Amino acid sequence: MTSSPSVAFFERQFERQARSGEYALNPFELAVLPHLQGDVLDIGCGMGNLALAAAGRGCRVIALDASTAGIASLGDRARAAGAQVVAQVADARTYETACTFDAVVSIGLLMFFDCATAAALLRKWQAWVRPGGAMAVNVLVEGTSYREMFGAEDYCLWKPDDLDREFAGWVAPRGFSQSFDAPGGTVKRFRTVIATRPRPQDAGPSLTA
Ligand SMILES: C[S@@+](CC[C@H](N)C(=O)[O-])C[C@H]1O[C@@H](n2cnc3c(N)ncnc32)[C@H](O)[C@@H]1O
Repeated sequence: MTSSPSVAFFERQFERQARSGEYALNPFELAVLPHLQGDVLDIGCGMGNLALAAAGRGCRVIALDASTAGIASLGDRARAAGAQVVAQVADARTYETACTFDAVVSIGLLMFFDCATAAALLRKWQAWVRPGGAMAVNVLVEGTSYREMFGAEDYCLWKPDDLDREFAGWVAPRGFSQSFDAPGGTVKRFRTVIATRPRPQDAGPSLTA
């Protein structure tokens, strides 16, 4: 399993949060939750607070993360709640599945790889969304000056419009930007896009019809 400095950063954070019972959904998870239904894949689920909330709404969730602390916390809480959540330690860069999903979510993950890898992963995951299903992605964008969670390894601060461009042709894409003050007078700037994969009939009539 990956033991990158960024994953180690989150291991420490999740261990602290598990000790103090901090399980609140973050603002991105709150925005995404209403769009989840059916079979859900959460890639880079962290402590799995969104996965548990989705299961509470009747979703069947596969949630994966490279953090053993995050997945252990999720697994324990899912078992205690009898929730339909499969919690897996996995490296998102190499994770493969033959399944498709009604929703694929990745919040706060695709900045931890170089930009070419991040874009290639996003496109691979888009193909796992069933027609009519939803995808929700959140990344850090240029202008972010807080860098503590990045180690010496590659990372990607997305260009402002790049994430939205990846969803060209999807139905009803909703994009929103949020900025948060961070330690040491720094700032974190995020872009989130939630969109629906077109069904064949969404493409409009063909020219030969
Ligand atoms: C900013 S946190 C977001 C967690 C969660 N989605 C949330 O919204 O709270 C980033 C997550 O990405 C995970 N991560 C980083 N690199 C990863 C990798 N290669 N494979 C899987 N997860 C990874 C970290 O362990 C961490 O849980």
